[in-house]
Amino acid sequence: MRIEIKRRKRNSENSYVQVFEYEPVNKNETILNVLNNLNLREQLKDINGETAEKIAFKQSCRQKKCGACAMLINGKPGLACGNRISQYGDTIRLEPLKKFPVVEDLIVDRSIMEENLKQMKIYFEDKATVTEKRNALSYEASRCLQCGCCLEVCPNFSAENSFTGMAGAMPASRIINELNKKELKEVSKAYNRHVFEGCGKSLSCVDICPANIRIEDLLVNSNAVAIWKRYIKG
Ligand code: SF4
Ligand code: SF4
Ligand code: FES
Repeated sequence: MRIEIKRRKRNSENSYVQVFEYEPVNKNETILNVLNNLNLREQLKDINGETAEKIAFKQSCRQKKCGACAMLINGKPGLACGNRISQYGDTIRLEPLKKFPVVEDLIVDRSIMEENLKQMKIYFEDKATVTEKRNALSYEASRCLQCGCCLEVCPNFSAENSFTGMAGAMPASRIINELNKKELKEVSKAYNRHVFEGCGKSLSCVDICPANIRIEDLLVNSNAVAIWKRYIKG
């Protein structure tokens, strides 16, 4: 196989593509396996026989639970541990996500997502009240990995504006049904400014989400509660 990797040294502005030959161990290998296997080589050499630096990328859970390994795989955002080489042809191109500043190789700085959550101030000041109905919604929203794949395909998200995209809307959905009325008033204002006003409802984010979160259902519910004041009872 031919593995093309868009690379950039730390603190450099210049990117380049480096190509590696790779003999698959088996067809079930994930993209993350490939990256780890390349780095495990005693001496990493590119397709021209030139010595190459180890590839920088992020990983943690290796089982689609943490979002650390999000990157562009043949141009489409996804988790390196959630996609197998059998899904692709003989060439796989790996690039860092484009909506965030590149730190090194495939590592990007996604701190804008945390900053957006801080801006929204979505937290409890009092006891949360959870019912079975609310619990189901909160659980669904809590599955958000903060991977940023949805932001990559969102036409309205950019690091320069206040719209959080679904990476902010999902954590907001997580708590919006559990707030008391005073807290909800504050959060509703933030939700309106940082989510509702900026979202064009094109729903490009729905299909790309690697956690398959029911984004549309959660969005409809949060809009009803925070914007249209249809407070869920019981
Ligand atoms: S519905 Fe469209 S505008 Fe709204 S977050 Fe998803 S991709 Fe972005
Ligand atoms: S909504 Fe999905 S795609 Fe977006 S950050 Fe959460 S898990 Fe990732
Ligand atoms: S390493 Fe955690 S989602 Fe891929």
